[in-house]
Amino acid sequence: MTDISTPLTLPCGVKLKNRLVKAALTEGIADTMNRVDHRLINLYRRWAAGGSGLLITGNVQVDRRYLERPGNMVIDGNGGLDQMRALAEAGAANGTEMWMQINHPGRQTPIYLNPHPVAPSDVALDIDDFGGIHFGAPRALTEAELEDIISRFGHVAEAAAASGFTGVQIHSAHGYLLSQFLSPKANRRTDRWGGALENRARLLLEVVRAARRAMGPRRAVGVKLNSSDFQKGGFTHEDCLQVVRWLDAEGIDLLEISGGNYEQPSMGGAPPAADALPVKESTKKREAYFLAYAESMQALGLKVPLMVTGGFRSRAAMDAALASGAADAIGLGRPLCTQTDFPNRLLDGTTPVFDGGEQRLKPDTAIGYYYMNLARLGDDAPLYAPEECDAAHRDLLANEQRIAASLKDRRL
Ligand SMILES: Cc1cc2nc3c(=O)[nH]c(=O)nc-3n(C[C@H](O)[C@H](O)[C@H](O)COP(=O)(O)O)c2cc1C
Repeated sequence: MTDISTPLTLPCGVKLKNRLVKAALTEGIADTMNRVDHRLINLYRRWAAGGSGLLITGNVQVDRRYLERPGNMVIDGNGGLDQMRALAEAGAANGTEMWMQINHPGRQTPIYLNPHPVAPSDVALDIDDFGGIHFGAPRALTEAELEDIISRFGHVAEAAAASGFTGVQIHSAHGYLLSQFLSPKANRRTDRWGGALENRARLLLEVVRAARRAMGPRRAVGVKLNSSDFQKGGFTHEDCLQVVRWLDAEGIDLLEISGGNYEQPSMGGAPPAADALPVKESTKKREAYFLAYAESMQALGLKVPLMVTGGFRSRAAMDAALASGAADAIGLGRPLCTQTDFPNRLLDGTTPVFDGGEQRLKPDTAIGYYYMNLARLGDDAPLYAPEECDAAHRDLLANEQRIAASLKDRRL
């Protein structure tokens, strides 16, 4: 029976040595030109040694004017491809597959990085504050800019392949640009990029095609997609099922299921009532909060393997999700921010349930704990304890401002 130790061969032929995947975790520790820093290489060396079958990098931006965080990696003619090669090599140690996640944040660009973000339409985020971060009012992208964005995704995929990454993942979840296009709440366009779902999904599908052209048939192209935005008037689960059919027809290699955005951040917890599938007692016991959505996708009879991310903490729940056929791979995020060897411990049975003290974190400042601990892992420094998450969050906000001020050559 399939369990977390079972290898997985993807449609393109890339083989994962087991079913555990380090989900994308924004690292925030690139250098002042948003290139790979030695701390990133250190971090990926640890993760590769930690036992995952696949590592997916944190989101790498296609345009330095639009960052999700000041310390993001960017590939847009800023050089640094030798260091990128070193990063790919570090992540591929120990028989691990190493992929790059590619993103454009659109209107979820913090205001202190760019007060004039771009988006499908001039619709501002419906929130004033996301963990102490604010956002400017966006302007609608022009047709020429959309063509430019598609070619930027293709260019970054080309650079990833040339640097030794065996796959890329297109980030179309969590309210970033491609996810904004999918949402009728954020996308009010009346041209061929808005309106009917076919139009709202056009940018994602064009980006996937550009990535495939760059990667060729033997490297992997994956997509991270919301099972729903869980918002009234947003991207629904029914929309999602249709987009999944189209992505399957494109021949993508791995589809990661998540959910939510900055307005409705359910990527980090159980989704709210709007558009939620009824949660069965058995699903609650299975920990992972998007599993019911994965089941409804599997019912479509897909060729593409599904990776389910969000909430998995015990080997029993992971094995059950794989054995039932709901998930083909298990995504792990927060546990790997502090225990880089959690996959090894799951596999050898020393830690059957994650024991990192997450229940001692405060919801409002937990993100500071995760972000700052990733930086500390890169520095080989002692980690913040869960009880120190307020302090970590204060340090994070100061740190992000300092990094933002040190960035060179922004060309805003
Ligand atoms: C510190 C941190 C950074 C993250 N960065 C990204 C990212 O760059 N791209 C992405 O798609 N998801 C990102 N996520 C979401 C995770 O990939 C994952 O979907 C989420 O944490 C739920 O999984 P978990 O319960 O295993 O943590 C991030 C989450 C955390 C906690």
